[in-house]
Amino acid sequence: MKKSIIRGSGFFVPPHIVTNEDLTQFMDTSDEWIRQRTGIHQRHWVTEEDMYGASDLGTHAARMALDKAGWGPEDLDFIIFATLSPDIMFPGGGCLLARNLELNATPALDIRQQCTGFLYGFATADSYIKSGLASKILLVGAEVHSTGLDKSTRGRDVTVIFGDGAAALCIEAVDTDENVGLIASALHADGHFAEALKTELPASNLIKRLPDGISTDDPRYFPFMDGPGIFKKAVRMLPKVTKEALEKAGLALSDVDLIIPHQANKRINQAYGQFLKLPEDKIFHNIEKYGNTTAASIPLALHEAIETGRIGKSGDVVLFTGLGAGLTWGASIYIFP
Ligand code: UT7
Repeated sequence: MKKSIIRGSGFFVPPHIVTNEDLTQFMDTSDEWIRQRTGIHQRHWVTEEDMYGASDLGTHAARMALDKAGWGPEDLDFIIFATLSPDIMFPGGGCLLARNLELNATPALDIRQQCTGFLYGFATADSYIKSGLASKILLVGAEVHSTGLDKSTRGRDVTVIFGDGAAALCIEAVDTDENVGLIASALHADGHFAEALKTELPASNLIKRLPDGISTDDPRYFPFMDGPGIFKKAVRMLPKVTKEALEKAGLALSDVDLIIPHQANKRINQAYGQFLKLPEDKIFHNIEKYGNTTAASIPLALHEAIETGRIGKSGDVVLFTGLGAGLTWGASIYIFP
């Protein structure tokens, strides 16, 4: 049976670091508040000099992943690109990334699953592999949040948590009867909570996507988040979906070597760990350095966990989980070959 095996990972963040102290220059916040409430110390944001879109960050990450896999872009037979911050309204960032890689016929699929972009993307890659539709897939999560945030005090609850960044995986179809690769995914969505985390404009459900006479400071251009509401949902749903994925995989929590959760707020992941009675070192964090990079967050953490030797030995079991805009949430389990 065909299994989805990770052959290489890569990441890229724009060089400019924005500390919590830097944010106090243009909004009423403090390093103490941000560290205590979110665990974030700094994030990377693009600058005017960079001229990076999400697909550009993704291209850098993709090149690193391709190098690690020993593949050239022409080896790819499918590209999946996850983002909530596409370079332009359309075409999708996957096409732009493929162009950056100088490809001119490789299929490229964009997915808009926000914080669960990686979970949905990996499950999609696995389905393509299992069905024989593709055998060498590039999965990229990339976000440029900083150019779309409300940097006044009005937007401080949202703005302080988001960072720009990208991460990529090369995933290969391998014929084996061993219990390796992506062995289970549990995915969910509930659009009844779409209002809890959204950016409204531009909107195709309006007769004019950009209504006449509105100011560019209109809050509908900026992300809105019911932070405490999402927080409570995450703490409730993440343990539940973790158990669902474990059940699908036929594994116990004690079989898992490392949990890589979406990096939205360190307190969410700590509460999740307490609920499941997990030792602290079983949950991977890197939110302090990058903030919340949405679709890039889980693969970026995975890349670091592999590079630092925290995970990746044959037989190691890693569980991914996350919840975000949609609402969407999920968990998946991967066993290293
Ligand atoms: O990745 C997508 C999914 N998103 C998430 O998982 C995010 C989940 N939510 C969160 O991470 C947290 O709710 C936030 C970090 C967004 C906010 O933290 P909180 O502990 O829930 O704070 P709060 O919204 O309940 O606000 C508490 C107070 C308020 O002041 P008052 O009304 O008590 O006077 C806010 O105005 O903190 C104030 N506040 C801030 N103060 C300083 C909100 N943001 C800030 C800020 N700096 N950046």
